[in-house]
Amino acid sequence: MRKSFVVAALFVFALSVCVGFAGPALAAARIGISMPTQSLQRWNQDGANMKAQFEAAGYEVDLQFGGDNEVPVQMAQIENMIAGGVNVLVIAAIDGSALTTVLEDAKAQGIPVIAYDRLIMNTDAVSFYATFDNFQVGVMQGEFIRDRLSLDTEGGPFNIELFTGDPGDNNINFFFGGAISILQPYIDSGRLVVQSGQATRDQAATPGWSTERAQARMENLITANGYGPNGTALHAVYSSNDSVANGITNALLGAGFTAENFPVLTGQDCDITSVINILAGTQSMSIFKDTRTLAAQVVKMVDAILRGEEPEVNDTETYDNGTGIIPAFLCAPVVATVDNYRELLIDSGYYTEDQLR
Ligand code: BGC
Repeated sequence: MRKSFVVAALFVFALSVCVGFAGPALAAARIGISMPTQSLQRWNQDGANMKAQFEAAGYEVDLQFGGDNEVPVQMAQIENMIAGGVNVLVIAAIDGSALTTVLEDAKAQGIPVIAYDRLIMNTDAVSFYATFDNFQVGVMQGEFIRDRLSLDTEGGPFNIELFTGDPGDNNINFFFGGAISILQPYIDSGRLVVQSGQATRDQAATPGWSTERAQARMENLITANGYGPNGTALHAVYSSNDSVANGITNALLGAGFTAENFPVLTGQDCDITSVINILAGTQSMSIFKDTRTLAAQVVKMVDAILRGEEPEVNDTETYDNGTGIIPAFLCAPVVATVDNYRELLIDSGYYTEDQLR
């Protein structure tokens, strides 16, 4: 048990005694939630899910979004939350390495910090990490490409291009690393060929996870390598998430590819645009990360911390943020395709059928 939790728990307990609660001692606690951007569907959902679930549990919530992935905005918001007296911070960092200084204040004031979805690097102010199994996400994406191209039985060679996300997001080490752990043997044997030669994490990065930047890079790759339905064959494009996949889809459609000859294209998040593309045959799969589950896990974590108890974790080995291992709870990702989207997304109440038209 770290000292800061005990301080926070005592504080909330004292507060509840002062205001004379007989009921849940935690009702007066305020949770500061800092999400990276409102321009991607997933963070709006994450923010809304957490706010609803924390409020239902009786907490007060200060939910903020860091402009459009603007690091200084996020830093200022977190500073304001600390100054405003939040009891816990839940943060999905825009740049995982940019919060060291601002979180020193949180630590000094005994405010526990939970890294949400993305690990916050190089600070011992982070108490816990709640996320999906990010390496497994990459493995599932790599396996999908392997199986769709039948890399274990078909001769090839097959052409592939690689795209991942923002270089400041620690998650891409796991997404890209997981995918490459599956694909590398086929690249080494020559069965898979990255025609552009752009095969490192940094060469494959997409700043800001931007759809427009991904589209521009894919357009350049198409021009430089002559990819097209009647040109050089392009069999697969690895994309770490949906916002990047959307840019790739736009570029491939622009080059004349159709659902009939579309390269295998991966994604992640089950954003509405991507699910619609999956149904149209212009994206092959996505990874479903049920943000309701992650939000519920974080509410449980915060609840335990404020009660002075140890939160449940299921990984104490994987996530070193530069100051040591951060105990984590990893939720399970699931592959989504045209074959199971209904059960995963509609039957579970995540989307309505109308949203996917
Ligand atoms: C998240 C992904 C998301 C990406 C872009 C990553 O850190 O894990 O789910 O697609 O950020 O927002």
